[in-house]
This record gives sequence, C-alpha cells and structure tokens, in this order.
Amino acid sequence: MKEQIETIQADALAAVAAATDERSLDDARVAFLGKKGSLTLASAGMKDLPNDQKPIMGQALNVARTAITQAIDEKKAALESEADKKSVEGIDLTLPGRELLQGGLHPLTLVKDRAVSILRRMGFALADGPEIETEYHCFDALNTPDDHPARNEKDTFYFDSGKLLRTHTSSVQIRTMEKASAPVRIIAPGSAYRRDEIDATHLSVFNQLEGLYVDKDVKLGDLKGTLEYFLRAMFGTDTEVRFRPHFFPFTEPSFEIDVKLHVKGQEPKWIEVAGCGMVDPAVFSSVSEQRKDDAFDPENVTGFAFGMGIDRLAMIQYGIKDIRLLIENDARFLQQFA
Ligand code: PHE
Repeated sequence: MKEQIETIQADALAAVAAATDERSLDDARVAFLGKKGSLTLASAGMKDLPNDQKPIMGQALNVARTAITQAIDEKKAALESEADKKSVEGIDLTLPGRELLQGGLHPLTLVKDRAVSILRRMGFALADGPEIETEYHCFDALNTPDDHPARNEKDTFYFDSGKLLRTHTSSVQIRTMEKASAPVRIIAPGSAYRRDEIDATHLSVFNQLEGLYVDKDVKLGDLKGTLEYFLRAMFGTDTEVRFRPHFFPFTEPSFEIDVKLHVKGQEPKWIEVAGCGMVDPAVFSSVSEQRKDDAFDPENVTGFAFGMGIDRLAMIQYGIKDIRLLIENDARFLQQFA
C-alpha cells in the first residue's frame, strides 16, 4: 500500500510539472485529489487495513497530499506570473504617459458668445434664418435692385433652383418682420457667403451678427449710442471707433464702422467691423406689402439695423493680423485661447 501511495505521488507530481496552463493543472488536481481522484480512492482503502498499519498509512497519505497540494499551488503561481508577463510583452512601462489635451472654445465662439451676451443685456433677443436663402429675402425685400453688384453671379453662390447662399445676415431682418410686430429688437449671429478673394481681411465664408431695432421714433442717435456702447463694452472704454458715411440699399443714411486694430509690433490701423444705418422706408414698404397690414407702415415706425463681422471683432479683440488664422485649425494658434 505504501508503494502504491508513492507511485500516486510521483505520477501526480509529474502531471503537475507537465501542466502548461490553468486548465491542464486543474485536470491533474481532479485526477489525484478530486472526489474520485486516485489518492482519494487510496485513502478510502484505509478502513480495510489492520489497526497497526493505519497510522503509518495515514501519515504516508498526508505526506503525499501535502506534497501534491504544494506542487499545484506553486505551479499555479508560476503559470499566473507567466501570463502576467505575456500580457505586458512589448509594452515599455518606463515610457512617459500619453498626454490628454484639454479642449477649448474657438476664438470665434468666444467672441460671438460675448457679443450676444452684451446685446442681450441691452434688450436684444436672438433671431434666426436659413443660410440657403431666396433672392427675395436676401435682395428684393432689402431694396436691392436687379442691377446691384451684390447680385452679380460672380459675387454670390447661386443654386440651380434660383436660391443662393445668403451674402449677409440682413435677410433675417425680413424674416423677423414677416412674423413679428413692432417693437422689434433682435440680433442674429450666423454664417454669410461671398465669392470674395481670400486675403488677410476677407474670407468667402464668414460670420456676421445682424441687429434690428424697429419702434416708433427710433433715431440716428439711438443707433450711434447703441453701437458705441456695444463696442466699448466689448473692447474697453478707450476703444477708438469711427463712423464713415457709406451706402447700403436697405438703410438711409448708412455708415461703416471702423475700430482701431492694435497688433503687437505693428502700427495701429483702422479696420471695418460693421455696416449700419436707419432702415430705408422702402424695406418697411416691401414687408408691409407682403404682410398685407400696417404693422410696419413706414409712416408709423422707424428703425436702425447693423451687421457686424464676427471674424473682424475677433481680430480686434485678440490683436490677430490675418483673418485666415481663424479657419486654419492650427492647434498652436488655437491653444492660446483655450
Ligand atoms: N448687410 C450689410 C453687409 O453685409 C451690413 C449691414 C447690415 C448694413 C445692416 C446696414 C444694415 O455688408
């Protein structure tokens, strides 16, 4: 019987040593120590032994069980550490970690958000309109005749359907007055499109912020005061602003507004940031004609409108000398605003 136990032990140790993974190791454990394992069966034979043999065999069985259990535990630890090693093979744990870059808002978004929040404090509500516009909303209703250069095929993106990419956000003035009634005080930020040559101050897709204020007795002084207040709230009280007489078909009188741009290491220069003026009575007339009521009868209401270039505002705000930087997505540039 003792020999039998020794043989079982030797077989068991050989089987454990030969195991190559957890599965085959567990099979070996079951084969020798399991309920029907050979060592378990051998222990069951104890009860048939003469009494004086029992302690000797019992000890031999214990020795065998301890040896096999220990071998299994050691093998298990060895297999686990091998698996751990394999799972990090080819990974250099001493390399520095990969940096997770934090995102930030684009400077155009920052400037737009600030402009909107200042104007909302002044009582303007947000309005919106489509970027694919009708000629009526973009030009006709804005008193812009067929022969106006802005309608030229070379200056505007037309679709075959006759619709176009809006060349300015002024179309939102018309869309708002079609639905609302006076007083109207709205702003509409959004994209505008022109077939402009791209240079340091022009893009073919750019961002505007339209404003419209219509009520009884709105005067030129209201326009000037509102826009000067806005530009000083935006850029600081010492901001230099100038209004230059200009022409727009939909306002009379009309102005362009320039603000001094300060770029590090350069002479300060005026750049145009907005067009504005008193709403031309012809615009109220075409809105009235469309609505078939007198809510915007030019005899009763007056108003002012403005259209600012958000890209230009960003240039003034941050001292950016080339508008193209705003669309190139160069992280080195954008990081400065994050
Ligand atoms: N729509 C004009 C432009 O894009 C700007 C403007 C808006 C002028 C409102 C007057 C009134 O140049």
